Amino acid sequence: MANRNQTLGEFIIENQTEFKYSSGELSRLINSIRLAAKVVHHEVSKAGLVDILGAAGDTNIQGEDQQKLDVYANDIFIKTLINREIVCGIASEEEDDFITVKGRNEKNDNKYVVLMDPLDGSSNIDVNVSVGTIFSIYRRVSPEGTPATIEDFLQPGHKQVAAGYIVYGTSTMIVYSTGHGVNGFTLNPAIGTYYLSHPNMQLPEDGNIYSVNEGNYVHFPQGVKNYIKYCQQEEGNRPYTSRYIGSLVSDFHRNLIKGGIYLYPSTSKDPKGKLRLLYECNPIAYLAEQAGGLASDGYGRILDIKPTELHQRVPFYCGSKNMVLKAEEFMQKK
Ligand code: AHG
Ligand code: MN
Ligand code: MN
Repeated sequence: MANRNQTLGEFIIENQTEFKYSSGELSRLINSIRLAAKVVHHEVSKAGLVDILGAAGDTNIQGEDQQKLDVYANDIFIKTLINREIVCGIASEEEDDFITVKGRNEKNDNKYVVLMDPLDGSSNIDVNVSVGTIFSIYRRVSPEGTPATIEDFLQPGHKQVAAGYIVYGTSTMIVYSTGHGVNGFTLNPAIGTYYLSHPNMQLPEDGNIYSVNEGNYVHFPQGVKNYIKYCQQEEGNRPYTSRYIGSLVSDFHRNLIKGGIYLYPSTSKDPKGKLRLLYECNPIAYLAEQAGGLASDGYGRILDIKPTELHQRVPFYCGSKNMVLKAEEFMQKK
């Protein structure tokens, strides 16, 4: 029985034996992410003061350059992970190539790699709308004691050992899974502690929200156009409601709680879609499946795709099981 007074720190310790490779290393890794997220939360919450405190590109009072929040978040997560010497490699949407990290005593004996989108939905920062961070964790496939290689990062999503996101919304929350369901923790900013607020999150099998950038409608494949028309038809629990924030984390978070489908299809301009397989789609797909939902590229399971490059893009359909199945049905008819 979930204890709602439980803090994230207590939860990590209590559940670490559940993890099949239990070595405490993954727990320390998640601990580092929760710490970096607090720092980013603090910075995000000041974003509206940027005109008063200085805009990106300006120099602050300490003579340091002010950074854009996505660069700032990237630096904080990378520095926190490197300082704690708990991963052997990091890949980020903000970095051209992956970074290898040495462990304690200059050895390359850490077991995990982290992939991340440090600030998702960054265009929402200027207008005070929720943004997020997405992370994905794999066990390395290269031998311990050697530097991480590209193969450690190009693993199919079903090999993830943990994944999650932080949503910097009206509250800051961390939602993650280590393969035993999905749990959500809300930050009490006054004391800097996360509490288990959403134990065992379940994506409703059906929903009535569809989330898609309809401005791209004319560029969508015919199957997607037909599915959108289906969402809008008057029948049963339809028409569905349209909700699109423009940050995947926030759109997915809402749909996870209420039930719904998120779509970022291929378009005639971007035949591979926009979202990144490794930093965005795989971790969100892992959470969706852990919560009883589905994630597809329109034809098959996202988590089965064997990546070929770090910044690979993929069409993305994710959310309530029956809604994703229906969208796939429309795609496959065409
Ligand atoms: P990022 O800010 O990390 O570049 O990601 C933005 C992504 C995703 O969060 C969002 O759902 C999508 O781009 C929005 O794209 P459109 O503006 O094309 O709808
Ligand atoms: Mn993103
Ligand atoms: Mn980003």
